[in-house]
Amino acid sequence: MIVAIDGPAGAGKSTVAKALAGVLGVPFLDTGAMYRAITWKVLEDGFELADAEACASLARRTHLAFSAEGLCVDGVLRGAEIRSADVDKAVSIVAAHSGVRAAIVPLQREMAAEAGGAVAEGRDVTTVVFPEADHRFFLSASAEERARRRTMQRRAGEGSAGEDGAAGEGYELILAAIKRRDHLDSTRADSPLMRGEGVSVVDTGTLEASEVVKLMLSIIKNS
Ligand code: DC
Repeated sequence: MIVAIDGPAGAGKSTVAKALAGVLGVPFLDTGAMYRAITWKVLEDGFELADAEACASLARRTHLAFSAEGLCVDGVLRGAEIRSADVDKAVSIVAAHSGVRAAIVPLQREMAAEAGGAVAEGRDVTTVVFPEADHRFFLSASAEERARRRTMQRRAGEGSAGEDGAAGEGYELILAAIKRRDHLDSTRADSPLMRGEGVSVVDTGTLEASEVVKLMLSIIKNS
């Protein structure tokens, strides 16, 4: 079974996708981590973020594989590295290059096929990667609500250090980072974030993660 979940940064996709994958007994496919990995390598190797061909060529020669602990980049687990503040700021630029997407998307399809299914989350999984998925969802919440949640996570010392504002950064800075990423992810030419036709839209604004999972499971069972 393939379940595809799209939505903006901070809508709770990862938490919900992980939980759903556990219940359904299929792997969780974190497609954003793959774009983060390429971005991390672009920064490490000192390439220009705007150099589409250099980024695409790097994406083509990078080996990506998920282990139980997370994403391995060329055979080495890179959990914290791909969630740094620098990667956060750069990832929307690298992910916008068509050549990068052309290298990554087939790999995502292969991973799901090899595993016999997946719960995939990202920005284009319902529209481009798995348009024929068994179930397709779009998780939404206002930018203000998403920033409020991120601010609370930061204060509690949860989540990754750099994601949409470093630890200690206040609500306003986090809100600005989220709005910037929303804009870049939604306005790019190739595979922008959008609500595809026929997707089930779930507003996570007033719901706990467990309630979102419950709601999605009931939609899956009743469809
Ligand atoms: O979900 P995330 O925050 O880890 O994603 C990081 C970036 O990668 C996000 O800003 C846009 C990009 N992305 C993408 O273009 N397509 C996907 N399927 C997933 C993420």
